[in-house]
Amino acid sequence: KAGTTRNFKVWRGDESGGDLTDYQVQVNEGEVVLDVIHRLQATEAPDLACRWNCKAGKCGSCSMEINGMPRLGCMTRMSTFDENETVTITPLRTFPIIRDLVTDVSFNYEKARETPAFAPPEELKPGEYRMQQVDVERSQEFRKCIECFLCQNTCHVVRDHEENKESFSGPRYFIRAAELDMHPLDAKTDRKEYAQASQGLGYCNITKCCTEVCPEHIKITDNAIIPMKERVVDRRYDPVVWLGSKIFRR
Ligand code: SF4
Ligand code: F3S
Ligand code: FES
Repeated sequence: KAGTTRNFKVWRGDESGGDLTDYQVQVNEGEVVLDVIHRLQATEAPDLACRWNCKAGKCGSCSMEINGMPRLGCMTRMSTFDENETVTITPLRTFPIIRDLVTDVSFNYEKARETPAFAPPEELKPGEYRMQQVDVERSQEFRKCIECFLCQNTCHVVRDHEENKESFSGPRYFIRAAELDMHPLDAKTDRKEYAQASQGLGYCNITKCCTEVCPEHIKITDNAIIPMKERVVDRRYDPVVWLGSKIFRR
């Protein structure tokens, strides 16, 4: 089937500012938003900057906002939009702009570096680590993370609050804490304490927006954040969990 010409608005600019630019682009059957960006680069906008790598939803590079929703460009089919609809493509809002659709996501790498690494008991040598299959399976979900940072981008705690970034690690690192908390050989750090004291777990008021945008369908809020909040609540006062327990547990 022959392609149709569709209307797009793409944010163009750099750290000093920018604007939406109108484009008309041919879209063929089965194409995704990243195909449209590649066609633009091959035709009228050869200097359009966009990060991508796998085009298979696995590298986590092509994160962008499509009609205001945080999405992977390579996994968003053009068939999900009405033929007459203008599709607006903008960079992730939470991170500083480098150019066009490319943002500086180093906030996330800093938070990753701050998280204490997995540390098994000292008496165990490599090759002596043993764990039950059930423990392997418990945290398997969290290891599906492709580090697209869509959850980090969408979380309202940092989305429009630059000032919270220093004390808030974000949902991607809450699942890392939960993963290590479930690891029977992670011996050195109390991950629940750490999440509360250093990762800013208390800022999260379980809005679940992170879970909604996760392309790997990781149940970030239900399976990582809430269990960690529930387990720290005995030791530290957390108004959200306290309120939740009043409303839901009578
Ligand atoms: Fe992306 Fe999901 Fe990982 Fe967040 S948890 S970085 S949304 S894959
Ligand atoms: Fe943010 Fe997810 Fe909590 S969006 S507020 S980390 S539930
Ligand atoms: Fe790899 Fe989209 S290009 S996830």
